[in-house]
Amino acid sequence: MTTRLTGFTPSGDLHLGNYLGAIRPIVARQQHADTIAFISDLHALTLDHDPDAVRRRTLEFAALLMAAGADPERLLLMVQSHVPEHTELHYLLECTTGYGEAQRMIQFKEKSRQQQHQVRLSLLTYPVLMAADILLYDTDEVPVGNDQSQHVELARDVATRFNSRYGQTFAIPQAVNPAFAARIMDLAAPDAKMSKSASSAAGSLRLLDEPDTLRRKVMRAVTDPGDEVVYDPAGKPGVANLLAVLAACTDGDPVTLASQFDRYSDLKRAVADAVVATVGPVRERYLALAADPEYLRSVLRDGAKRARERAGDKVRAAKEAIGLLPA
Ligand code: ADP
Ligand code: TRP
Repeated sequence: MTTRLTGFTPSGDLHLGNYLGAIRPIVARQQHADTIAFISDLHALTLDHDPDAVRRRTLEFAALLMAAGADPERLLLMVQSHVPEHTELHYLLECTTGYGEAQRMIQFKEKSRQQQHQVRLSLLTYPVLMAADILLYDTDEVPVGNDQSQHVELARDVATRFNSRYGQTFAIPQAVNPAFAARIMDLAAPDAKMSKSASSAAGSLRLLDEPDTLRRKVMRAVTDPGDEVVYDPAGKPGVANLLAVLAACTDGDPVTLASQFDRYSDLKRAVADAVVATVGPVRERYLALAADPEYLRSVLRDGAKRARERAGDKVRAAKEAIGLLPA
């Protein structure tokens, strides 16, 4: 059976890009694939962080994943730091990765440039921890937005190298990107991706925004000169982004949808309706789940227990292969 895995870093507010790019693809396949979704809290420590916010968001993200349809009876839902095998394998994989390889990661270059304080060493090594997240569970497919594809590529390289040096140990993963939603752009700045950390409030459609707020943000989205509705990501990035959002929310395709609108304002109204219909129910279910944090914690405890049973065998195999004496 195919294994699918993806992680969510509790470092900002989850938005429509996260939902369409990663949450929905993992939830959609939970019945047919061995599916793992986790909160990558350790990754939230790679940039300046507020400990209280990380703790609060970890539970909030778990509730949002469940509100978006993640069913703990069907998939494994857990918190990364509750499964210490992730950091144990991280070290073994650091011994399989080159400094230059880590330094080449686009996200490292961008984020290290933006840091006002000291750049944490973990920002450099974080893709190796991400490789450990993936390789621990013999993951075949990693649903992610485009921005993470390079990290999945690194996990492939590291797994291939480990296997050829020390013997077959890891499955080789591949990234899977959704058709039109691999890179939802910021509504207020359509040349940048919608992002938990970087987007302004106006540019990001947050999963916990109220319906009126979502509507207002869509109606105020930056469009492009001219008035013709066409799907042209290079020439008309604002309109193309709205069409991509509409396509992803309604299961349509952006080119056909473009031909149905004569004016930007009609397109925006349709996008606002589709976004509210997609995100509204998630928020409603979230509010119900958030009222029972004890239940959420019990789901996460159970997820961590099941994850550890699986991950333990893989770490043992990797330790032996790389030359460590069994205890
Ligand atoms: P962000 O970049 O917003 O801080 P993360 O990097 O934690 O969010 O992303 C969580 C998941 O959502 C990843 O799989 C990522 O590729 C995906 N994702 C993030 N932003 C977008 C976007 N704008 N469009 C599509 N997918 C996205
Ligand atoms: N690095 C990813 C992000 O910031 C989250 C993540 C951590 C992840 N580990 C992962 C995604 C493993 C896929 C697989 O978005």
